[in-house]
Amino acid sequence: MIDEKTGILLLSHGSRLDDGEEVIKAYTEMYKEEYPEAIIEYGFMEIRKPGIPETINKLTKDNDLEKIIVVPVFVAHGLHTKRDIPALLGIESDFEDEDAHGHGHHHHHHGHDHGHGHHHHHHDEEEEFEFDGEIILTDPLGIDTRLYDIIKDRISQNL
Ligand code: NI
Repeated sequence: MIDEKTGILLLSHGSRLDDGEEVIKAYTEMYKEEYPEAIIEYGFMEIRKPGIPETINKLTKDNDLEKIIVVPVFVAHGLHTKRDIPALLGIESDFEDEDAHGHGHHHHHHGHDHGHGHHHHHHDEEEEFEFDGEIILTDPLGIDTRLYDIIKDRISQNL
């Protein structure tokens, strides 16, 4: 259930173009419309602001949160959801980093987990956040017939 102890972060990749923000903002507003009491913000993992620390600070500023649910609005798992986002959130990841140096355009190796339930992130150019509650990173959207329907629409619209 939605309560005043839970914050929600809808997380988008981030782009220099505005399209991605329009989408994530619209979903955030849709959720807010359906659950007006929800404490929800959107943010970006890289390239665009607000980033993860700023967004968490926004969520915690006027709210005494015990939990933040982070939904990566990505289609599939990848290095970002398995490695980079957990690092930025300061949470544990089961990702094995041995073979990870192929992504190229961005690497984040600056997340820190300072132990149980205490999340602290710092980076030279970025805002910091501190949150003593639980951070839950959900799965991305994944394989779902609701997405499949959209794929079918995109095809049929052009047949
Ligand atoms: Ni990327």
